Amino acid sequence: STILVLHGPNLNMLGTREPEVYGYETLSDIDDRLKETAAAHGHHLLHLQSNAEYELIDRVHEARTEGVDFIIINPAAFTHTSVALRDAILAAGIPFIEVHLSNVHAREPFRHHSYFSDIAEGVICGLGSQGYDLALQAALQRIHR
Ligand code: DQA
Repeated sequence: STILVLHGPNLNMLGTREPEVYGYETLSDIDDRLKETAAAHGHHLLHLQSNAEYELIDRVHEARTEGVDFIIINPAAFTHTSVALRDAILAAGIPFIEVHLSNVHAREPFRHHSYFSDIAEGVICGLGSQGYDLALQAALQRIHR
């Protein structure tokens, strides 16, 4: 099976971006680890980070034609703004888990609403990069069902 990991805007800055909030690991540290785990389970993991809303939307459309089985997405700031990315995921009909490094509910009120949570299989936030590993674990189990 194929799992697609999508990272939204500014996540390319991980490691140096407010490390007390987002941690010291870089995005490639995280992606490499996820790739290894997926491969160890005999699956294929693809990933994309983009600062552009349309690139994430286009990638979700492609995922549908490619037959991607599961998406793990941290929409970053688009979480709180993007009806368009939500609609793309709905159109693709691919199950997904929403991940946030920080506990968005303990932060500014504008981070409390997500355009994704009500249509996600599950939501993980506040556990740092471990949230991605836990999401992958859940995705692998769901793919095997
Ligand atoms: C984030 C939380 C968002 O509110 C923020 O805009 C981000 C990262 C997180 O992973 O904690 O860019 O999605």
